[in-house]
Amino acid sequence: MMSMIRKFTVIGAGTMGHGIAEVAAISGLEVWLNDVTEDILKNAKEKISWSLSKLEEKGQIKSKDEVLSRIHLTTDQEEALKDTDFMVEAVIEDINIKSKVFSKADALSSDNAILASNTSSIPISEIAKYVKKGERVVGMHFFNPPVIMPLVEIIKGEKTSEETVKEVYNLAKRLGKDPVVVNKDVPGFLVNRILFRVNEVACWLVESGKASIEDVDYTSITDLGFPMGIFLLQDYTGLDVGYLVGKAMEERGFKTYECKMFEEKFKSKELGVKSGKGFYTYPAPGKFVRP
Ligand code: 3HC
Repeated sequence: MMSMIRKFTVIGAGTMGHGIAEVAAISGLEVWLNDVTEDILKNAKEKISWSLSKLEEKGQIKSKDEVLSRIHLTTDQEEALKDTDFMVEAVIEDINIKSKVFSKADALSSDNAILASNTSSIPISEIAKYVKKGERVVGMHFFNPPVIMPLVEIIKGEKTSEETVKEVYNLAKRLGKDPVVVNKDVPGFLVNRILFRVNEVACWLVESGKASIEDVDYTSITDLGFPMGIFLLQDYTGLDVGYLVGKAMEERGFKTYECKMFEEKFKSKELGVKSGKGFYTYPAPGKFVRP
């Protein structure tokens, strides 16, 4: 039983990692946030700081500085993992990179640590192969932006123990989230299996000349009740994230319509909000204004 989380580690400070670190620090946990360069960490801190200011303005947190003081930034992965009680990995969707993080975490974390992955697509049982304590490996999949989106998918792999699932469920509740347990450890789990079907139809409609990007987005809001248009959401989440997640699912047997637009955007580095241009154009890289 994981008695108390004295150290909560997030590996990867990108789109999702920085948001997960923020959520954990808001709930009072001491957080170690790791990534490979100082620049990435600086960027992550700026984003967290912007978000916390918004929450402070609205009275949703007492003190931005107090929350920030609980987030320890480090480029030293070993320091972040040493004796940790809980790790959530949020690195790029690539099993070669994730497996290295997990075997390091296996060796360095505390005996009862839970090792979670925020993977959007890779089955947890595949990740658990790189870890001795497979019963402590679990999926904990947040949605962008983690600080606002209530859902967390908790994915049970072949070896994950019921106790681990229960502990992560309780942790998600403690973080103020609405968790759902996914027992079927298939590529894309639950949400992304739906979302990627929606994305492929949207892409097919545009590529086959049946609708414009703007029409698809307009109708997804007005008729389907989505909070954002389908293409805008991809810009928002990152076209690199979408492309790599789709590829990882495809490699594991989830076949979709091959969307040329998604591939072109990825290859030309038009990644959406983060690069300043995707399907829409933004005032500056990282600055989101609804088109
Ligand atoms: N922190 C703090 N405040 C934030 C914030 C953040 N990270 N992001 C937005 N806000 C604030 C805005 O500043 C704004 O505040 P204001 O009214 O004081 O200016 C308020 O929230 C509302 O934001 P917006 O006006 O920009 O727009 P919306 O009302 O549409 O809300 C949204 C934004 C919550 C992102 C909403 O559009 C939404 O729910 N979009 C869909 C998101 C979604 O589906 N995410 C899942 C993606 S899939 C995924 O992540 C899975 C992965 O595996 C691929």
